[in-house]
Parts: sequence; C-alpha cells; structure tokens
Amino acid sequence: MNFKELVKSNRTCRRYDGRPVSRQELLDLVDLVRYAPCGKNKQALRFDLVADEESKAKIFENIFWAGYLKDWPGPVEGERPGGYILLFEDSNYGRCMTEDVGIAAQTIALGARAEGKAVCIFGAYKEKEIKEALGLGDNLKLVLLIAVGYPLEEVVIDDVHEGDDIKYYRDQDQVHHVPKIVTEDLLVKK
Ligand SMILES: Cc1cc2nc3c(=O)[nH]c(=O)nc-3n(C[C@H](O)[C@H](O)[C@H](O)COP(=O)(O)O)c2cc1C
Repeated sequence: MNFKELVKSNRTCRRYDGRPVSRQELLDLVDLVRYAPCGKNKQALRFDLVADEESKAKIFENIFWAGYLKDWPGPVEGERPGGYILLFEDSNYGRCMTEDVGIAAQTIALGARAEGKAVCIFGAYKEKEIKEALGLGDNLKLVLLIAVGYPLEEVVIDDVHEGDDIKYYRDQDQVHHVPKIVTEDLLVKK
C-alpha cells in the first residue's frame, strides 16, 4: 500500500471483529508518537494503555459513539474495540499544544492502519468517570481517547462539494458513508 492508499483507507471504524489488542501492540503504537513533531519539543503528552477486559468495559460505558447516527447506541458486544489508548496532558510536565494531540492521534491511527487495524478517535467522553475507573490522578487531563481494533465495518468515501451535507450515515446494507469535500473546493483561490 502506498502512502496515499494508507491515508485513504484510514477511516474511522466503529464496528470491530472482536479480537483483543494486546498492551504490547498498544505500546508499539505509542512508540511511534515518540518520533512525531511537537511544539517546542516539550513532549508533554502522556499515555495510558487499556487492554484488560474490565477496564475496556468501563471505558466503553463512558464514551460517545457517532453523534450523527442518532439511533445507534454504539457497537454491540463482540464488535467492540480491542483496546484503548488514552492521551493526557500531565500538569507535572506543563501544557502541550492542541496540534500535538492531533499529530499524535493521526500517527497512532496510521500506524494501526498500516498493520491492518483501525481506530476511532474520541473527543466526547466522560473524563471524570474514566479517570476514576482507571485510578488516575488529578495531574492528568484527558485530551483524547483512541479505540483500536480490527475493522469489521465497510466504510466508503463520498465526494461532495463545499456547502453539501457532510454528515456521515449508514446505508441499508450497513455500509458507512463519509462525505469528503473535493480538493478543489478546499482551495481559497479557485
Ligand atoms: C478530534 C476528533 C474527535 C472525534 N470524536 C469522536 C467521538 O467522540 N465519537 C465518535 O464516534 N467519533 C469521533 N471522531 C471521529 C469523526 O467522527 C470522524 O473522523 C469523521 O466522521 C470523519 O470520518 P473519517 O475519520 O473516516 O474520515 C472524532 C474525530 C476526531 C479527529
């Protein structure tokens, strides 16, 4: 797979085949972030890896799936993520830039995709409940959460134009459609 194919195939996945993802596999993904750029080279992001069944279940209860799919409560048992990576800002090491978080997330996503896995990045979660469940201290602020697993669902990209509806949806065959604005429409000078 060349780089563009990798990026194109790196679609958000919300239904997985149920295979677990080991702590070592999650660690290997975080290891990639070490090589990513970050503002002032501060390296202030910290990570927690969640691969045990009990903690995975607690996280699942406290994340919000697919805001646009109003009638879908999230994946059924057997189609849930194989593991999670949590990204934190640690007050002991100062603030990181928002951009650092995004770069780290996409690095993890592409790394996962390169080995046949897929992710769903979560910005919507109950931080207090998750931190309590995992026994994490007040120094840690959850800035992003990433579900990792082996993809089950089919996802396609639909080309749309500026001003068109950009809400993703599922069709009658359960194929997940993601509208993406064509490149020409993203340019400020046409
Ligand atoms: C910063 C960020 C936060 C997101 N938060 C959520 C979330 O809380 N729940 C969810 O189901 N998807 C979430 N997503 C996934 C987006 O909905 C998804 O990226 C978007 O629909 C485009 O699909 P694609 O990733 O396949 O391109 C998030 C993505 C990003 C980058």
